Amino acid sequence: MKMGLDAFSLAGKVAVVTGAGAGIGAAVARCYADAGAAVALTDIDAQRCEAVAAELREGGAVVFTLTMDVSRESDWEQLCSALEDWKGRWDVLLNNAGIYIGGSVGSNTTEQLQRIHDINVASVFLGTRFAAAAMKPGGTFGHGGSIINLSSIAGLIGVPGHSIYGASKGAVASFSRHAAVEFARFGYGVRVNSLHPGLIDTAMGHMVLQDFVDVGLAPDTDTALSMLRDQMIPCGRLGTVEDVANAALFLAADASSYVTGTELTVDGGFVAA
Ligand SMILES: NC(=O)c1ccc[n+]([C@@H]2O[C@H](COP(=O)([O-])OP(=O)(O)OC[C@H]3O[C@@H](n4cnc5c(N)ncnc54)[C@H](O)[C@@H]3O)[C@@H](O)[C@H]2O)c1
Repeated sequence: MKMGLDAFSLAGKVAVVTGAGAGIGAAVARCYADAGAAVALTDIDAQRCEAVAAELREGGAVVFTLTMDVSRESDWEQLCSALEDWKGRWDVLLNNAGIYIGGSVGSNTTEQLQRIHDINVASVFLGTRFAAAAMKPGGTFGHGGSIINLSSIAGLIGVPGHSIYGASKGAVASFSRHAAVEFARFGYGVRVNSLHPGLIDTAMGHMVLQDFVDVGLAPDTDTALSMLRDQMIPCGRLGTVEDVANAALFLAADASSYVTGTELTVDGGFVAA
């Protein structure tokens, strides 16, 4: 069994990252490529995805891009055929693409609730279903694998203005736990874990700060940021995309081969406090 740095290598593996055109997804794609994986980058925004892929190719990475909407089943079918043609392998799936909709319970609508579940929950269900079918023994690829589903600390604790987003991320965590146990019991060789970032410095992270203002918790985003840093995040800073990418590497690599059904927080101690 591999140990130490060797256990963190993704050499010879094929990884799929959804929402790879920005933020956490782009950082994880870079991190997986650095660790030796061939990486399939997918995003609904073709231009952003191509830009990240071009940068990775320049650094010598083996990458492939596909424009996909993670909430559409037909797009997952297309991804599976593309992977078969590209490398004939699939070892890691990072279900990262997602959206944020804030607001108080009183202001949220059933349309918003439906939309956030259609994207954040359906994508994780579809991705997990397609990946497990392809990775399990007798599947198209059949080498087993690791599935990492992006939840959030909002899927674990209550935060004002986060109810429908938190509900979608709670569903991601619960679904991941059930899938992990089912796949382990059925001998699929497919691990499933959920990753729970705290506030991360991305476009979405800044939407969250704005939401603190919109629901009346802070007069402006600078105050919201200070409140979070000084009172809620024991480490005293926002998370970086690299903080999340390194945790996603652990869950993808053989270093975590005995880890399934877990909820890994990357939050500077937010949930523990
Ligand atoms: N940033 C944070 O503070 C934070 C905290 C906890 C969890 N998360 C979760 O991490 C993940 C990534 O967050 P981020 O901050 O990098 O977000 P981001 O908004 O910066 O980037 C999200 C990417 O996903 C893509 N995307 C959105 N909808 C899509 C769809 N239907 N199909 C395919 N691609 C789609 C976007 O084009 C974009 O490139 C999300 O699931 C988010 O909920 C983020």
